[in-house]
Amino acid sequence: MADKERWALILGASSGFGAACSRALADAGFNIFGVHFDLKSTLPRALQVKADVKAKGRQALFFNKNVADDRNREEILCKLEDYFEEVGGGSIGVMLHSVAFGNLKPFIASKPEDAVDRKAMEMTLDVMANSLVYWVQDLVRARLLVRGSKVFSMTSSGSHRVITGYGSVSAAKAALESHTRQLALELAPKGIAVNCFQAGVTDTPAFRMIPNHRRIQEHIMELHPDGRMTRPEDVARTLVALANPDLDWITGTVIRVDGGEDNI
Ligand SMILES: NC(=O)c1ccc[n+]([C@@H]2O[C@H](COP(=O)([O-])OP(=O)(O)OC[C@H]3O[C@@H](n4cnc5c(N)ncnc54)[C@H](O)[C@@H]3O)[C@@H](O)[C@H]2O)c1
Repeated sequence: MADKERWALILGASSGFGAACSRALADAGFNIFGVHFDLKSTLPRALQVKADVKAKGRQALFFNKNVADDRNREEILCKLEDYFEEVGGGSIGVMLHSVAFGNLKPFIASKPEDAVDRKAMEMTLDVMANSLVYWVQDLVRARLLVRGSKVFSMTSSGSHRVITGYGSVSAAKAALESHTRQLALELAPKGIAVNCFQAGVTDTPAFRMIPNHRRIQEHIMELHPDGRMTRPEDVARTLVALANPDLDWITGTVIRVDGGEDNI
C-alpha cells in the first residue's frame, strides 16, 4: 500500500495516549494528521511528536486547534480533503479521539463557584464525548472514513466508578461509550468499526490534574496485578494491532487495556 493511502487522524496528538499512538502508527507505516490544543508552554510537546513522526520517514500535518469548535473541524477537514486531492486520493485508515479537557470540580460544594456548573458540565461532555460524533459524521460525509477504517476513542473506569472530582468526566465517559455503540451500529453497513479503549490509570498531564491523583497512583501501584500503572505505549501497541483492516468483527465495544486493573 502506498504511503498516501495510510493515514491516521489523531485528536489529542501532542501528549499521553495520542502522542504514543502517533509514534507507534508512524512506526507501522501510517502518516499522521494530528490535532491538539496547546499553549506556548506545552507546544514543544506537539512539535516533538511531529518531529518524531517525520524522523520515522512519515508525513505529519498537525493543527493546533480546539476539536470542539465546529469551524475548526470544518477548516481542518477542508485541508485534509485538499491534501488528498493534491496527491490523487486517500482516506483515513485509523482515527483516534484522545482528548482530555474536562472540568474536575465536585458537584456539591458550599460555594456555587467551587462546584460544576452548567457551562462546565456541557463543555466537558461536548469536548470529551460529543465531539467524537461530530468528527465521525463529517469524516463519513466527506468519504474520508471508508470501508475498513477504524475509529477509536479513550474511556476509563470512571464511566462506571465514582472518583472524587471526576463527576462530569465520568458522565462524558459514559456518553462516549454510548456514542461508540450507536456509531458502530450505524456504520456497520459501511464497514467502519468503532470502539473505545478503556485504559488503566496512566501517568499523563491529564491524570495529574485529577484531585487525589497521588492517592490513586499509590493505590494502583499497591494493588495492580503487575505492580505498575498502564503506560501510553500499552494502548499504542493495542491500537496498531487492531488497526489491521482484516480484524473487522470487533465493533461497538469497550476494549480494556489495563493489565486487569478494573478487576481489582
Ligand atoms: N491518563 C489516564 O489515566 C487515562 C485513563 C483512561 C482514559 N484516559 C483518557 O484518554 C484521553 C487522553 O488523555 P491523556 O491522559 O493522554 O491526556 P494528555 O493530557 O496527556 O493529552 C491530552 C491531549 O488532548 C489535547 N486536547 C485537550 N483538549 C483539546 C481540545 N479541546 N481540542 C484539541 N485537543 C485537545 C491536548 O493538546 C493533548 O494532546 C482522555 O479522553 C482521557 O480521559 C486517560
